[in-house]
Amino acid sequence: MKITKICCIGAGYVGGPTMAVIAKKNPNIKVTIVDINEARIAAWNDEDVSNLPIYEPGLAEIVKETRGKNLFFTTAIDEAIKESEMIFISVNTPTKTYGKGKGMAADLKYVELCARNIAEVATTDKIVVEKSTLPVRTAQAIKSILHNTGSDVNFSILSNPEFLAEGTAIEDLLNPDRVLIGGESEAAIESLANVYGSWVPQDRILRTNVWSSELSKLTANAFLAQRISSINAISELCEHTEANVNEVAKAIGMDSRIGSKFLNASIGFGGSCFQKDILNLVYIARSYGLTEVADYWEQVIILNDHQKRRFSDNLISTLYNTVSGKKIAMLGWAFKKDTNDTRESAAIYVADHLLNEQANIAVYDPKVNEQKVLNDLNYLNTRSEDENKDLVTSFNNPYEATKDAHAVAIMTEWDEFKTYDWQKVYDQMKKPAFIFDGRNILDKSEMEAIGFEYSSIGK
Ligand code: NAD
Ligand code: UDX
Repeated sequence: MKITKICCIGAGYVGGPTMAVIAKKNPNIKVTIVDINEARIAAWNDEDVSNLPIYEPGLAEIVKETRGKNLFFTTAIDEAIKESEMIFISVNTPTKTYGKGKGMAADLKYVELCARNIAEVATTDKIVVEKSTLPVRTAQAIKSILHNTGSDVNFSILSNPEFLAEGTAIEDLLNPDRVLIGGESEAAIESLANVYGSWVPQDRILRTNVWSSELSKLTANAFLAQRISSINAISELCEHTEANVNEVAKAIGMDSRIGSKFLNASIGFGGSCFQKDILNLVYIARSYGLTEVADYWEQVIILNDHQKRRFSDNLISTLYNTVSGKKIAMLGWAFKKDTNDTRESAAIYVADHLLNEQANIAVYDPKVNEQKVLNDLNYLNTRSEDENKDLVTSFNNPYEATKDAHAVAIMTEWDEFKTYDWQKVYDQMKKPAFIFDGRNILDKSEMEAIGFEYSSIGK
């Protein structure tokens, strides 16, 4: 099928950047991104591209170039579905918070609603592409919904998981390691391969069956997260043995079988994907009775929770076992640098532990505002919204955030943190002045020369 119009349901961290790049590289295809969230669509349409709902390096420029030409954002979902030959489903698939599989399984209600919406309004043949990360065998459910409409519209279902990482989304999309397309219909697979083919070399476009494609996405995230938990486990051992985790990571990473990427010890991984997708993998394995498989992957999450907890425990015990009434400055709230996304950020959990000990938290993040910080904490429901508001303040400037603080905790690896005037920070802090570097980005000897009590991960 020749594709002239694409609709993407879900204007989020995946739908927005992915479709912007598809539109840029396919000027002859009209790409319409739809969403039920009116405020989000309005922000995507904001004339000032610095107000886009998602911050990603390079994104604003592409939106500026394509928006209104062949890239459109709208809440008119039915119209966009009707006119398009290809429809991407790129809605959220969060961990279930209720019922069977609560806290483990992926909540597929938004995906199902999309399938029903497509089934209801489609009058011409469609290729439906699963872009959301879905449990293996979800395509079966989508197929069943689409094929029971009573109409003679023909639907082909493809799985095309997205491997972009936030903060580098545009770079990842422009130059992907691979694009994965799973499907039954060869014609449908080739239609989608052609869309990517305008900029991705054909030998990097993998064609598989649907189930391999769905499972590859969960597996890729599980393997990536496993590397972080593995190096974080070793970081704790380093702290007891005078080994240095950076040196260990370098030494093992130079083995080409292991590779050097994704070996940065940290306060623990965050983000909307790793935890959710591993929990889902564990749930699926359990549902097939594969206890050992489930337990094996669950350990990645257990270790990650341990890493976050031991960071806050160490901070509290170093501050003479009490942080009550003390100002703790947290630098960074986003789950990684170069994004305004805070979902599952380790900072949220560390702050929550410290608030349980009645600390006063001062936050500075270059891309996250106070309301988002408070929303993240309120969502945990650990204490009242008023208590969070009393104990947590966000600043627009790192020097104000750290003024009179007992300790600075580095939560995100933003580049700008490395270039601060740390002498100035030291001078205005309470003494002894502590730094807990959760990202190992500062130089220990430099910090100690200034006078800081400096501690980091795995050293
Ligand atoms: P997101 O929450 O940022 O965006 C999802 C959007 O879908 C929201 O704006 C929501 O309003 C909209 N939506 C939900 N139901 C809808 C409906 N019925 N009709 C229209 N719009 C609807 O989510 P995201 O981060 O973009 O993730 C989307 C999917 O991609 C998830 O399955 C996720 O696991 C996967 N994924 C995410 C990343 C990432 O880095 N964020 C990377 C790879 C894959
Ligand atoms: C991840 C996958 O990388 C991506 O392929 C998938 O499509 C979505 O999930 P993302 O969550 O956006 O992407 O970012 P990623 O770079 O993977 O980082 C996830 C978390 O791990 C962050 O909190 C990051 O700080 C942490 N991390 C990463 C480490 O602690 N150490 C590392 O070495 C790498």
